[in-house]
Amino acid sequence: MPLFTPPTVSPPIKPLGIFASLKAVRQNALNIIPEIAYTQPIVTGETGIRRWHMVQGPEGLKQIFLDNVENYPKSEVVLRMLRPAVGDSLFTSEGKQWRWQRSAIAPVFTARNVNTLAPIMTETARRTTTRLKASSGPTELVREMLSATFDVICEVALSGRDHFDSKAYSAAITQYFMTIGRTSLLDFLETPAWIPRPAELFGANSVKTMHNMVAKAIAARQNQPQKNDSTIADDLLDYMLKAEDQETGRRMNQKDLLHNLQFFIVAGHETTAIALAWALYLCANDQTIQTQAREEARSVLGGRDAGIEDIKQAPLIEQILLESMRLYPPVGFLARKARGPDRLYDRDVKKGDTVLLNLYGLHRHQDLWDHPAAFYPAHFAPEAVKKRHRFQYVPFGGGPRICVGANFAMMQAQIILMTLLSKFRFWPTKAAAPAPVMQMTIRPEPGITLEIEDLSNPATKLAQ
Ligand code: HEM
Repeated sequence: MPLFTPPTVSPPIKPLGIFASLKAVRQNALNIIPEIAYTQPIVTGETGIRRWHMVQGPEGLKQIFLDNVENYPKSEVVLRMLRPAVGDSLFTSEGKQWRWQRSAIAPVFTARNVNTLAPIMTETARRTTTRLKASSGPTELVREMLSATFDVICEVALSGRDHFDSKAYSAAITQYFMTIGRTSLLDFLETPAWIPRPAELFGANSVKTMHNMVAKAIAARQNQPQKNDSTIADDLLDYMLKAEDQETGRRMNQKDLLHNLQFFIVAGHETTAIALAWALYLCANDQTIQTQAREEARSVLGGRDAGIEDIKQAPLIEQILLESMRLYPPVGFLARKARGPDRLYDRDVKKGDTVLLNLYGLHRHQDLWDHPAAFYPAHFAPEAVKKRHRFQYVPFGGGPRICVGANFAMMQAQIILMTLLSKFRFWPTKAAAPAPVMQMTIRPEPGITLEIEDLSNPATKLAQ
């Protein structure tokens, strides 16, 4: 059987100049990856007065993420896009402010805590099943997956949607991505932060809407009487309220709580939903793999919805998700700025150089993968993983700043995918193939539309 090769971008032959880069970044950041980045570990260029290096080799990424991490703080360009919404929270802070927050928040996401949240994820998978059973005809799945993962994050972050108008909140996120989340000419030229960007003015309302809802939810919890019932599991907000710096005993103030929860809600649901939607698209286009995954899921579940114990027995489901994030890493690029000189491969890095961590290019690098452009979950078979450089696959980043929610994201994605594949068969439609477009995350444009066959209802069987 030929492997399925899903859509990608057409790379420019040479690195782009400043205005072409700018136009490309605003439309789709993936368009700035030149062709040679898929065969070389590092590409160096100049945009205006700025020197940059695009790194997509595992050794170079290890140096930046881990060995010489102090030399590569996050780039101001990216921080500037995020700070209006999430202030100096874990993701956006550096130095002392980062260290104490990491030490307070990392324990919140230990496997033990995350495991207690699994029943909520199972319940969400059940609700998603019900919604999909009620849908008829071609269905757009990014929206469906966003709704599912938003459900999970609201339940685990705030015990429900009581303080949330989910439609208004989702609209605010989209507006935020389209305004403040877009790189502006001023950012590229690195003009001082106090010069107002037009996008910030347009996006200010979206920030207000999101903050008001999260702040209300926090206040409602703080005003609640202490719960005496020990059978009610803590949620993420409970854990955050109790979190403290192990060294100093410092706790989160209102602003820390607001900004970190705001980040969890946006980052935690958008990234996972996209990974799930791409996974369903890939399965729809490779019916052999989809059938194998369904058989695996059904042999474990019978007719049940998936839970924490089940996902451990479903390696193919996990491999499909990992492969989906290889081809479409939800975070396609990271940006750092060199604090001082260094050497990456054969290049001299100078103080002030911009360093782009090209996860999209790394994951499709032609020298590193058996089938760089094809859907091939066996890339993640245990023997293949063992042979690989640890930094060849980094959808969650690496080193001390690795994603704190990786366990949580994988668990919810596995529970949802396993449940859905056991109950439905997904088929491609004649809708235009989705194109990977990166603004802040790599989203499929114009969405992922699939036919859904409900396996418990013969009336939905499709003639293919
Ligand atoms: C498929 C889902 C996800 C992907 C692909 C993803 C990806 C990433 C990446 C690449 C980083 C590193 C950024 C850098 O080094 O500049 C990161 C950091 C982070 N992620 Fe995730 N993430 C996901 C889900 C989540 C979830 C569910 C949460 C929380 C609920 C979360 C919270 C965070 C936080 C707080 C950081 C910053 C950690 C630090 O700097 O110490 N992420 N994520």
